[in-house]
Amino acid sequence: MAVGRARSVALLGLSGALVDVEAELSNQSPGFKLIGLPDSALREAEQRVRAAIGNSGLEWPKRKLTVNLSPADLPKQGSGFDLAIAVAALATSGQLPGETGRVAHLGELALDGRLRPMRGVLPAVLAAARSGVSTVLVPAANQDEAALVPGIRAVGVASLRDAAIWHGAELEELPVDALLAPNPPGDAEPEGDLADIVGNAEAVEAVITAAAGGHHLLLVGPPGAGKTMLASRMPTLLPPLDEDAALEVASLRSLCGVPVGGALTARPPFESPHHTATPAAMVGGGSAIIRPGAAARASHGVLFLDEAPEFSSATLETLRQPLESGEIRIARAAAMASFPGRFQLVLAANPCPCGEWGSRDRECTCPSAVRLRYLKRLSGPLLDRIDIRVRVSRVTAVQLRMREDRPTSTSAQARNRVIRARRRARERLAGTAWTTNAAVPGSALRGPLALPREVLAPVDRALERGGITMRGYDRILRIAWTLADLDEADRPGADQIGRALLLRRPVP
Ligand SMILES: Nc1ncnc2c1ncn2[C@@H]1O[C@H](COP(=O)(O)OP(=O)(O)O)[C@@H](O)[C@H]1O
Ligand SMILES: [Mg+2]
Repeated sequence: MAVGRARSVALLGLSGALVDVEAELSNQSPGFKLIGLPDSALREAEQRVRAAIGNSGLEWPKRKLTVNLSPADLPKQGSGFDLAIAVAALATSGQLPGETGRVAHLGELALDGRLRPMRGVLPAVLAAARSGVSTVLVPAANQDEAALVPGIRAVGVASLRDAAIWHGAELEELPVDALLAPNPPGDAEPEGDLADIVGNAEAVEAVITAAAGGHHLLLVGPPGAGKTMLASRMPTLLPPLDEDAALEVASLRSLCGVPVGGALTARPPFESPHHTATPAAMVGGGSAIIRPGAAARASHGVLFLDEAPEFSSATLETLRQPLESGEIRIARAAAMASFPGRFQLVLAANPCPCGEWGSRDRECTCPSAVRLRYLKRLSGPLLDRIDIRVRVSRVTAVQLRMREDRPTSTSAQARNRVIRARRRARERLAGTAWTTNAAVPGSALRGPLALPREVLAPVDRALERGGITMRGYDRILRIAWTLADLDEADRPGADQIGRALLLRRPVP
């Protein structure tokens, strides 16, 4: 008895593995058996595939059909194997003359035989291409996304009938309206330019410095000071994504069901989860194809936690792992899914629950115990990783009207400075494991990169007085190196050290 074959892809996190689908008919009474660790959505494939075959002018085999998904120990989730199962079943019953076994198939079947668009087509096709597959059949609605992958032929099919015809079945073409993905609420890309910001020169410089050195950043200030505005300008200061990063960013979006379209974006992502976000919303979760959370989608870009102290401690705690390792791991019954988690963290916080502590124009009404506890909620995993801390003040109506402060540079100007500064850092750090100043450990800052004593005098004094900790000391050195890179100086001098001290204000 001939075995019908097709291929598909099992996704686990962002990585995918090729799955061989084999179908075989035996002379027992009619029935269907699916083996090879399928999850419950996949076990329902029989109903979908049977109906789709019947409604496509093809024939469901009249004997017992056994479908095996291998490798057996790989967990296979979701309904994206339908097309491969249907093709293998049709091949074993002699309805497809073509060689089906080398082609990868992705897509869930609707009962009428059409293919539903699916999440995760981009990472699945990338995985297929990396495993040497040269052709992949995908739902028509996902064709342009699949075609982004270099080195593989992506064929969009609207229905199982189209797929069968592509595999050589002698059927008349019956054009159908392809099922399209529902348009999710357009993710409003942060538009806006650094030049929109009036005043707050120190905070603007802090954002540019954070972008240049890869430093995590905390902005503290009263409501309306422009913290959200400042943070949203951060992606406009980062260098454009290279192709690998752009593919990864698009793959993460694809896993969330965001239409990726026919072109990769080079714009670094900006993710701004609401403070009610659950741990799963932050790092990822869900069944079947696991959705990456905001922290994963922020990879190669910015993760912005607005009103950071309002997040639950469980949600903040999930960031510990990506901040330490650059990776997000999600445990599943059968396996471990992993996503990249390498983002720049920007936190915004009011200084106290009422927001007015330390502001020039209004009184704080919080009891001091409440106020002191407020920012402490951020301590531990997060605050320990933040290099730059600045205070943002409300600009006055007069400043806004007059723009009396010196004009802020545009995003394009600042980005050019950032790109040059990053290049200097990369060249200096060539041959090490680090590419940005933020990643350089204290031992290197105090060892091979040590600065002359006279330059360090003010930081040494602060350390002796107990004004800063040893950790804070290293952070000041990191920031100073970034300031030197921005200033195109060979190493930090007294000026950069002095400004670095100002970018590490104690949080009130
Ligand atoms: N420095 C500033 N320059 C220009 N506009 C500002 C500035 N600060 C605040 N604004 C205006 O006030 C609004 C509220 O600022 P926002 O960033 O939401 O403040 P915060 O997040 O600190 O509460 C912004 O949309 C912006 O229009
Ligand atoms: Mg805000």
